Amino acid sequence: MSPTNRDRIWIEVDLDALVRNYEVVRRCTGKKIMPIIKADAYSHGAVAVAQALARAGADGFGVADGNEALQLRRHGVENNILVLGAVPPELVPELVAANVTLSLPDRETALSYRQALNGARAKVHLKVETGMNRLGMSARQAAEEILELASWPCFSVQGLFTHFAASGDRDKDDFTAAQFTLFEQVLQTLAQKGFTPAVTHCANSDAILRHPYSHAQMVRPGLMLYGYAADSSSLSPVLSLKARIAQVKWVEAGETVSYSCTWTAPVRSKIAVVSAGYGDGLLWNASNRIQMLVNSQKVPQVGRICMDMCMLDVTEVEQVRAGDIVTLVGVDGSQRLTVEDWAAAAETIPYEVLTSLGLRVPRYYLQDGKPMERADYLSHL
Ligand SMILES: Cc1ncc(COP(=O)(O)O)c(C=O)c1O
Repeated sequence: MSPTNRDRIWIEVDLDALVRNYEVVRRCTGKKIMPIIKADAYSHGAVAVAQALARAGADGFGVADGNEALQLRRHGVENNILVLGAVPPELVPELVAANVTLSLPDRETALSYRQALNGARAKVHLKVETGMNRLGMSARQAAEEILELASWPCFSVQGLFTHFAASGDRDKDDFTAAQFTLFEQVLQTLAQKGFTPAVTHCANSDAILRHPYSHAQMVRPGLMLYGYAADSSSLSPVLSLKARIAQVKWVEAGETVSYSCTWTAPVRSKIAVVSAGYGDGLLWNASNRIQMLVNSQKVPQVGRICMDMCMLDVTEVEQVRAGDIVTLVGVDGSQRLTVEDWAAAAETIPYEVLTSLGLRVPRYYLQDGKPMERADYLSHL
């Protein structure tokens, strides 16, 4: 299915670009790949993304929480799924019955899972804390704790992992290298005691591209699969965001546009009202700072972005009418707007631009150069 005149705003997801980006990861690492598809695959639609990447040969998927894992199972995704975050013990039996793998960050969590498991056995990856100081067992005592937890019959330890805090920061390469060294030291101590996990993994997108020594046995790309990451021009953005113009009008010099009157027309100006607002995920902080594409021309967004609408100054664009399509992210003719442009305008990161995109915005998918059937992409319903 393709967008129709009934849509005021929509997202187009190019699954062929996604698979091309996956191939970049494969070529650049040669290791197992666990795509990270948390937050509805960075808003691209976790089910459609998982199905496309499973077809491309992905070695399992990483999600944030138990509900994301169960959503994938409900939609027939049968690959390994690792929940990276914390799971309330109450959800553990359902996840284990659905063959979902859990992360174990410490002994206390392990105790609560053991009780919840009530004799069942869970597949787990143990999380070692090496410098992020988020979830995980401190590298200093990790080996001891890991050996103990691995001896509990309620756990089948399948993997060991850590997460980098600053793999994208050029001035912190030593910090990333030190994190990896700590992780390796834990592995060495475990090996001396006769324990070798089946799989080890550390690298997110920036580490994949900037720290090849850290690829371990499996990599965990997120952002780069969707076409964004520092240091790689070989990636293609996967997502486009488009909306329709609701009205075109003239305002006189000196008149203001939108809430709090933050933009004043310097001359008589033609204004296009676009059916897209922060209720759809546009970042309010980008108000008066972002541009959009109309008829292959970049035009400034003016006035505060509203919940469901925003305004453009289209004085310089000929032949703009209600119903015309505006590109907020993507390509129109020779012009391109990226998630990074939005991130710069709103003083945030591309991750937040993507994950802010609203569930009320319909997604349309392109695969093998053709629009996909609707049933394949209603992942968020
Ligand atoms: C534990 C873990 N691994 C991998 C990733 C993927 O990171 P990126 O999107 O930077 O590739 C994330 C994302 O935040 C994560 O939390």
